[in-house]
Amino acid sequence: KESGLGAGPYLHLFQDFWCPTNSVEGVNKFQKHFDAKDNDVFVASFPKSGTTWLKALTFAIVNHQQFSSFDNHPLLSSNPHELVPFPEFMYSHDLHDQILSLSNKSEPRLLSTHLPFPSLPQSITKSNCKIIYICRNPFDTFVSVWEFFNKIKPVSSPEFIFEEAFEKYCNGIMGFGPWWSHMLGYWKESITRRNKVLFLKYEDLKEDTVFHVKRIAEFLDSPITQGGESNTVIEHIIKLCRFEKMKDLEVNKSGCILNGVEKKNFFRKGEIGDWINYFSPSMIEKLSKIIEEKLGGSGLSFKVHS
Ligand code: A3P
Repeated sequence: KESGLGAGPYLHLFQDFWCPTNSVEGVNKFQKHFDAKDNDVFVASFPKSGTTWLKALTFAIVNHQQFSSFDNHPLLSSNPHELVPFPEFMYSHDLHDQILSLSNKSEPRLLSTHLPFPSLPQSITKSNCKIIYICRNPFDTFVSVWEFFNKIKPVSSPEFIFEEAFEKYCNGIMGFGPWWSHMLGYWKESITRRNKVLFLKYEDLKEDTVFHVKRIAEFLDSPITQGGESNTVIEHIIKLCRFEKMKDLEVNKSGCILNGVEKKNFFRKGEIGDWINYFSPSMIEKLSKIIEEKLGGSGLSFKVHS
């Protein structure tokens, strides 16, 4: 048991990852009871890596025929976490009605998870359902995590001190961490099971959104990439999901998602390279070394500046 950056005050080392203590029971139930369907689509991520954005894009791609009007789109009136929920948090909060509603969700079901690949319910890994994974350079991820958890912590809890949280992060102690094993787990699966796991990086998605949206659509066998209108639809989707647009929507400015987190906290700066404003030279050196040590030789690397 450790304190660290995560939802709730403590983290528990559980099945080789740091699970927020208040989620252990929910994760157990999710693993035991969740029944994946072959046409389910999962958005998987390490926290603060661009989950909200990927949820929005995936929702818009999958439903582009049903919601072809971009003036009256569900993403204008619902937060992406409401449209693409995390079953593990539903089980953690024992939300009976929502858990039941999962089985009746319209198909294909769009769902999400922060669990590391080896801890996914077996029905997910064994079925033909697809997983789109997103991660982000470890520098920006840390800053985003630190900012986020300081905002959502109960007022009565002490602030997470940047240097202390950084030490823990470097030791892998963060909700759903270590970050390196989280990334590598999905990275390896994406190489061996190309039809099962699509591996994305926040920086790539930011730099060439059109290209990666097309990759997502092709991975999901979406007809969106065919036909003369294809580029226009893709442009509309990207515009709808842009950081500035989403941050400015009334629905994302107030209220909370199921686990009580205020929606506005999912939209901060949305940039590559903001970490430079936070890190000391020794921190840069330390994290760079860890990245080399943990990811070197895997073929996985990150851009850290825009
Ligand atoms: P910053 O804190 O660096 O701004 P997650 O969705 O996994 O919780 O990740 C949150 C990070 O993604 C935050 O990064 C947030 O601002 C950014 N983000 C949210 N929506 C986005 C969007 N539509 N486009 C780009 N980045 C977005």
